[in-house]
Amino acid sequence: MYQYILLYNLPKMAFIFTLLMMLCASQVSCCETSCGGLRLEHKLFSADHRALVNSVYKKKTAASQVICGRECSMDPECRSVNYHKCRKLCELSTATRREFPEAFVEGQGSVYFDADEKTPLFSLARNHSTRYLSCEQLFDAGFCSSGVYTIHPHGFDKGGLRVDCDMATDDGGWIMFQRRQDGSVDFYRTWAEYQSGFGNLSGEFWLGNDNLAKLMSDNLQVKWELRVDLMDWGNNTAWAKYQDFTISGTKYTLSFSTYDVNSTAGNALGRQNGMPFTTKDNENDIWQGGNCANFFHGAWWYKDCTSTNLNGRYYPYRNVKFNQGIKWNLWVGRKQSLKQCSMKMREI
Ligand SMILES: *[C@@H]1O[C@H](CO)[C@@H](O)[C@H](O)[C@H]1NC(C)=O
Ligand SMILES: *[C@@H]1O[C@H](CO)[C@@H](O)[C@H](O)[C@H]1NC(C)=O
Ligand SMILES: *[C@@H]1O[C@H](CO)[C@@H](O)[C@H](O)[C@H]1NC(C)=O
Ligand SMILES: *[C@@H]1O[C@H](CO)[C@@H](O)[C@H](O)[C@H]1NC(C)=O
Repeated sequence: MYQYILLYNLPKMAFIFTLLMMLCASQVSCCETSCGGLRLEHKLFSADHRALVNSVYKKKTAASQVICGRECSMDPECRSVNYHKCRKLCELSTATRREFPEAFVEGQGSVYFDADEKTPLFSLARNHSTRYLSCEQLFDAGFCSSGVYTIHPHGFDKGGLRVDCDMATDDGGWIMFQRRQDGSVDFYRTWAEYQSGFGNLSGEFWLGNDNLAKLMSDNLQVKWELRVDLMDWGNNTAWAKYQDFTISGTKYTLSFSTYDVNSTAGNALGRQNGMPFTTKDNENDIWQGGNCANFFHGAWWYKDCTSTNLNGRYYPYRNVKFNQGIKWNLWVGRKQSLKQCSMKMREI
């Protein structure tokens, strides 16, 4: 049942070994105790869903656990490692589970390894009865693939809420609440439809204003960030991120605090901050000329009216009439419709 990692960087190992022998010659006690780290071992032994939490001294990104193990072998201080596979996070520790059994905890999504051949006996199974509250919690627990999952936030009944999780973008853990990609779903819909949600979680959909409001009112201590991803007809991409995102009240009012200055799409949503939702049959905008939802053929947090319209009509091409289509004006201007977009949220 045990796994091991072969360290194939032999010239370096030989060098370290030689160095160690020189050290030993002058300081024998060192070799028997504190120098007895991983670097003399050619095998590492792993325990699944485990982590040693009290003695991490360095964190690095590593593409695989083999590379993480090699990082440890080359660092004289390192005695054991935790590797989080979704986060690709490699944590180097100055001690092992033997010295700190009480700090050797369950770490769903993490693998621990050291040079002790008994370590695999401590592997834990995935806990299938765990109810995850969000995509972020699933990601932490080692579910690294994007796709449809059931989450169990408070306020939802036993069946939970089926959501599409984006585990690939920007460190993963995002609950997707909107996607446009091919025009297969009509987004020119009523208040009731936007309230309950519509479409296909694996394709184009709106998760539903009631679900969004419930997710956020659930625990006011939890803060959310909003991320928007865009793609134009040349396959160029851009994104925008906002902090302290909420949808609240009976009119599903949008609010957020700061726009992430590193975003590439431009702060085009800024004008809609504080606006309630408007659909073709429920107007809450402030435009004197009529209902923005009709004019823009969508449903949005319109003001007077908008320079973003991600629920607008899907055009299977780039150039459209002034202000029509799927819009994010600060990125592509007023006469271009986008090819793809998605909206997602994650707890901070
Ligand atoms: C599995 O998860 C459930 C719910 O989170 C928890 O009550 C239970 O103690 C866990 N079981 C183990 C073996 O960790
Ligand atoms: C949902 O969308 C996916 C991707 O476009 C598609 O493969 C699937 O057939 C759709 N399912 C339904 C029920 O329409
Ligand atoms: C955009 O990507 C799609 C799918 O990968 C490809 O078929 C298409 O040719 C690309 N278009 C451009 C303009 O690069
Ligand atoms: C923007 O990027 C810089 C450099 O990578 C980073 O230090 C900073 O924290 C980022 N700002 C935000 C709001 O994420």
